[in-house]
Amino acid sequence: MILLNNAEVELQKEYMNKVKELNTKKLKYYILTMGCQLNENDSEKLCGMLEEMNYEKTEDINLADFIIMNTCCVRENAEEKLFGKLGEYKKIKEKNNAIIAIGGCMMQEKHIIEKLNKSYPYVDIIFGTHTLHKLPEDIYKILNKQKKVQDILDIDGEVFEGLPIKRNDDKKASVTIMYGCNNFCTYCIVPYVRGRERSRKPEDILKEIKQLADEGYKEITLLGQNVNSYNGGIVNGKEYNFANLLRDVNDIDGIEIIRFVSPHPKDFKADVIQAIKGCKKVSRILHLPLQSGSTAVLKKMNRKYTKEQFIELAEKIKKEIPEVVFSTDIIVGFPEETEEDFEDTLDVVRKVNFEQIFMFIYSRRVGTPADRMENQIPEEIKHERFDRLKALFEQQIEENNKKYIGTVQTVLIEGKSKNNENTLTARTSTNKVVILDGDESLIGKLVDVKIVSQHVWFLKGRIQK
Ligand code: SAH
Ligand code: SF4
Ligand code: F3S
Repeated sequence: MILLNNAEVELQKEYMNKVKELNTKKLKYYILTMGCQLNENDSEKLCGMLEEMNYEKTEDINLADFIIMNTCCVRENAEEKLFGKLGEYKKIKEKNNAIIAIGGCMMQEKHIIEKLNKSYPYVDIIFGTHTLHKLPEDIYKILNKQKKVQDILDIDGEVFEGLPIKRNDDKKASVTIMYGCNNFCTYCIVPYVRGRERSRKPEDILKEIKQLADEGYKEITLLGQNVNSYNGGIVNGKEYNFANLLRDVNDIDGIEIIRFVSPHPKDFKADVIQAIKGCKKVSRILHLPLQSGSTAVLKKMNRKYTKEQFIELAEKIKKEIPEVVFSTDIIVGFPEETEEDFEDTLDVVRKVNFEQIFMFIYSRRVGTPADRMENQIPEEIKHERFDRLKALFEQQIEENNKKYIGTVQTVLIEGKSKNNENTLTARTSTNKVVILDGDESLIGKLVDVKIVSQHVWFLKGRIQK
């Protein structure tokens, strides 16, 4: 279902103007973003609104007149981080009379709000995932001497178009195509804090990407918690599912690389594979989140595929598109995970030979079914399994890297290398970092390089003449 509420966006634009009038001189804001790329993209919108209201970004919190934190709650360390930071923010508030705003996923959790209200009364603005666009109104109220603004909605938010945006990069851009998640994997908090799936209209997405191409952007990442369940409805007789959206994005001149995160294996249908095959700009590293290699654990996780189905899917994609490599997410220590279950995970890792693995230790999330399961795995076993998975993966990276040596790769030059000003850093279509010698005029360009050596976390290349 697609919902739009332009009147609300217009209203917030009026508030932006009002705040701008109140902020007669340039003020500074400091932003901290936790969590996934969707949150990063939300933060770009928060920055866009703040800059419309006469705030400019600072990396030095000591100079901040406005402090904003966009939170994540997918794993518990994020909570420690939030409460740790708030003490620091209080000192800045006392010194600079700064406004403190906290938003994002963690604010959708009742126990967090209770704790904030009880122990951190100096936080000025609290907003949730469905009320991000109301930041201008919230700031206006605080500037008009309202003591505290708490703006959280439990119902699903609407899809808003036309908010200003200040992007972090001038070559690579993220474009959110759908919000929310319907999958309710039993370990995961996201469906509770982000609500049900809502897709943006294809014409709005395509318009945004065309504009990015005109501005010189080369790489686009399409974002959603479950991108391949994108449902943009029917426009001019054409059904806008994920496969068709991908094809239209591929046709946009100027865009050279298309990535997307995260697809769900259960929705990786034949038409999506065919679309990727036919769309040469789509990156040849595909994210295929495994979570566990044990069919029994996958069932308890509510992932809706078995170990065999996952392996078959990877093989099927590889058969259609031989140059594809995979990245994945794996959770170790899910409740009731046995040694045999964990061995199954290692087995899939050996068979699929992932290029990149994001590994997580299972973290209990209040309100999720897995948190209520009885046989939680002791911390030391979780850590021991994590280390074994990591060791296997590191062994595989070196082997995989060796396959690149001697090949010619088309890479996007991203900038100067962080460790050595005289070298450039680039990425292959499969997301490998390549370090090479070259002139800085090449930044932002696609260049053919020959890979000469591998160094575990990066490859070295030489420009092909
Ligand atoms: N929608 C995406 C992922 C969102 S969260 C997907 O399905 O792939 C990103 C990753 O965090 C997940 O893939 C999972 O591996 C991990 N994760 C989510 N909840 C977790 C939890 N409770 N404990 C540990 N890891 C978790
Ligand atoms: Fe969480 Fe599963 Fe939804 Fe991903 S698909 S956000 S892991 S519930
Ligand atoms: Fe975290 Fe919210 Fe993303 S919980 S992972 S920031 S959707």
